Amino acid sequence: MTGRNPPAAAATTDRHDMESRMPTPIILDCDPGHDDAMAILLAVGDPRVDLRAVTTSAGNQTIAKTALNARRMCALAKAFDVPVAAGYPKPLTGPLLVGDDVHGETGLDGWDFPEPTEVPLHSAHAVDLIHGLLTDSPEPLTLVVTGPQTNIAGLLALHPEDRHKIKEIVCMGGATHRGNTLPYSEYNILVDPEAAHEVLVSGVPMTYCGLNVTHQAPVTREVLGRILDVGTHISKVSAALLEFRSSTYDQIWDLPDAPLHDPVAIARVLDPTLVECVQAPVSIELRGEFTRGATVIDLYGVTGREPNALVATRLDTERFWDVFMKALAALG
Ligand code: BDR
Ligand code: CA
Repeated sequence: MTGRNPPAAAATTDRHDMESRMPTPIILDCDPGHDDAMAILLAVGDPRVDLRAVTTSAGNQTIAKTALNARRMCALAKAFDVPVAAGYPKPLTGPLLVGDDVHGETGLDGWDFPEPTEVPLHSAHAVDLIHGLLTDSPEPLTLVVTGPQTNIAGLLALHPEDRHKIKEIVCMGGATHRGNTLPYSEYNILVDPEAAHEVLVSGVPMTYCGLNVTHQAPVTREVLGRILDVGTHISKVSAALLEFRSSTYDQIWDLPDAPLHDPVAIARVLDPTLVECVQAPVSIELRGEFTRGATVIDLYGVTGREPNALVATRLDTERFWDVFMKALAALG
């Protein structure tokens, strides 16, 4: 046992140079999904990130539906120059567990979208698109991953050298305490634990924005009111989508103020001071009879293992919502 005090948060911001505020180039790998959809809007609307591509994983819905939903959101945000590519249809092991209980049959229930003709599906597989962007970029790129990590595991298996071209991976995944899909397993990690494990041990710097921090961003009635007050078509669509998700959260977890998970990972990249992190040892449970897919996070140093990731612990909720509203307004 090496001690019971959680590591100091202050030591964790040195990876992020707060002086240089050129937009951070990112690729968003996601599975829209209502909160992934909001992550796309935040990434397009906030000038501190430069969204180079959206790739989709199979997760909240099938790969065809998550890709269509990503195209819908890019079309809605008028991000016509952002390529959208689809990835693997299944996790590395086992069948796909879709999240239709939360996100509905389309994966984005609650709004009737037009055909996103302005944003065609990119002809390349997600992995090939990411590999090409990493190869062509003079600087390392940040990957924000808000779905199961299948595509990133595939990328690193096919192109192990790409790990040197990734600045960091910031994911929404896991939890320091309890899960949401199994008692100890969060959805994104549970869907493809082997992928999450491979990504974690790849050596790429990892940051986990888990349920413990995303639950600090509940979509309250007040938040919904603020979204509507932005007064644009996009804000109206966003409010309708989030109303739908609130109703499913209410039914499943008795939690009508549904947490806005995925945009928290974008927030960590666009302003690291919004999401406080600590360094900690993280492992993915691959075998547990009741705990497969759990993130085992040693916040108190009881295992004596070396920290291998940053783990988000606190969200500046007030500033997070201000940033989110500003990005929505900027989309017009
Ligand atoms: C995660 O699961 C998905 O349903 C959400 O989009 C989010 O990425 C939360 O556990
Ligand atoms: Ca997601």
